[in-house]
Amino acid sequence: MSLFEKLSAKAKSCPQRIVLPEGTEPRTLTAADRILGDGLAEIILIGAPDEIMHMASELKLDNIGKATIVNPADEAVIDRYAPLLLELRRSKGMTEEESRLTTANPLYLGCLMVKAGDADGQVAGAMNTTGNVLRAAFQVIKTQPGISVVSGAFIMLLPEGLKFGTNGILVFADCAVVPDPDASELAQIAVSAAQTARDIAGIEPRVALLSFSTKGSARHERVNKVIEAGRIAHEMAPNLIIDAELQADAAIVPNVANTKAPNSSLNGRANVLVFPSLEVGNIAYKLVQRLGGVQAVGPVLQGLAAPVNDLSRGAFPEDIYKTIIITANQAIGLKENA
Ligand code: ACO
Repeated sequence: MSLFEKLSAKAKSCPQRIVLPEGTEPRTLTAADRILGDGLAEIILIGAPDEIMHMASELKLDNIGKATIVNPADEAVIDRYAPLLLELRRSKGMTEEESRLTTANPLYLGCLMVKAGDADGQVAGAMNTTGNVLRAAFQVIKTQPGISVVSGAFIMLLPEGLKFGTNGILVFADCAVVPDPDASELAQIAVSAAQTARDIAGIEPRVALLSFSTKGSARHERVNKVIEAGRIAHEMAPNLIIDAELQADAAIVPNVANTKAPNSSLNGRANVLVFPSLEVGNIAYKLVQRLGGVQAVGPVLQGLAAPVNDLSRGAFPEDIYKTIIITANQAIGLKENA
């Protein structure tokens, strides 16, 4: 079974309620129609009902009638969710009037539905920028207990013949959100990436915190940050197999690990690679993807109290369909671990 066959089967076995705030956007609607047809999730579309149904009929979509539609122009909807937003943002200076205006923003309304327990996750970004999608999630849904920083992982699916990771699967993080994490943030990224490895990649995590130094081969404050992150991550998750301050080859090549890091608990068999900064993580995943012919699935946002995922504005319906499946699986994983 491929990764997506497994994720689809799990999503189908326990359908989650996924909000799509860009409810009138054609690629999003096409993906929603397929999800509903396949029975993989319950879909909540935010938008004007007549516009959504008009677009669905233009696109000849048969299943959109099964979706719940929430109209952000409906005063009753604003009455229901604005007080929650005001409660969350009052200390940041938000007024009642601002809370009503912001609640009418579909990105915020979707997150408020998740926060209120009326939905299990959100997928957006076919029309909105990453910053806008993430900010709504950060401000409304916030992070999981013990985590203060949201980050983004990619599941890297290696072509046959490349025998790294577990069954040719590796998780890379952070590749999408936190430009310059400190040691504590890096530790949180490592622990969150382990959760993504379990819940989405379906592998038992073996986490390497990467550096340009292996076990003291170089001295630098950036190396110290990675060592300290390893210590904190170990405290946060004592049962997690994790090792810090490894070069990439010592993390994933057993022969190199034997020479450079003979006492590493990973034995050169890491399947979760944590990068010391966003520059490294973002560049690394793109190079591995392009030069190695590797399929990169993501970014999967990790660390939020309930899942929200961001799409590329160039996303195809297939990408949106898969992102909804991932989000449903994250929601199931969070409930299972609660
Ligand atoms: N985790 C949790 N909360 C966060 C995070 C985070 N990583 N970053 C910011 N926040 C919170 C802040 O605490 C703040 O909350 P508050 O309003 O309650 O005080 C709120 O979000 C806004 O914080 P700002 O510091 O104003 O953040 P800003 O909105 O300027 O930026 C953003 C956030 C857009 C996510 C920024 O970190 C960013 O641009 N990151 C890089 C994203 C990117 O471009 N990635 C590369 C492309 S993606 C790809 O290639 C796959």
